Amino acid sequence: MSNQEVFFKWTDAYSVNIKTIDDQHKELVNILNRLFIAVSKREGDKVIAGILDALMSYTQTHFALEERLLQQAKYKDFAAHKEEHRKLLDQLDRLCKKHLLEDKPIYFEMLSFLKHWLKEHIQGVDILYSDDLVKAGFSTAAWEQSANEEFAKMSASKKWWELWKAA
Ligand SMILES: [Fe+2]
Repeated sequence: MSNQEVFFKWTDAYSVNIKTIDDQHKELVNILNRLFIAVSKREGDKVIAGILDALMSYTQTHFALEERLLQQAKYKDFAAHKEEHRKLLDQLDRLCKKHLLEDKPIYFEMLSFLKHWLKEHIQGVDILYSDDLVKAGFSTAAWEQSANEEFAKMSASKKWWELWKAA
């Protein structure tokens, strides 16, 4: 298996037609691809645990921001969407905990689960609201600014670049 191989390749099929949301989803894809490299190169449990922690933090912040956007846009199915987020976060949390407790974690199984999990979030859940927001012509500018500030704060406290240095 070559390290040049891309585990999760972003294509326009994943776009929800809202640029800032697409950018955040691309970042989740990047984290997953970083995890794939760590597993392929056998970088070890400590590095992998750090990447899973980054995935968890980024996802929590992304979901919270997405929910804030849907609330601001008065999206009709907000409650259902929030519930879907809760379920996805619960799945991710269980997977991370299971990984940390297992003696011999099955990394490639974990990766294929996460790939499916991310596709389900983007194509199964988010696509449902994006049409409504785009059609309503809702401006995401104010939300975008607060979202970017929040991610900048999070990246500074988590020191993400240290995870990427090893790749
Ligand atoms: Fe999303």
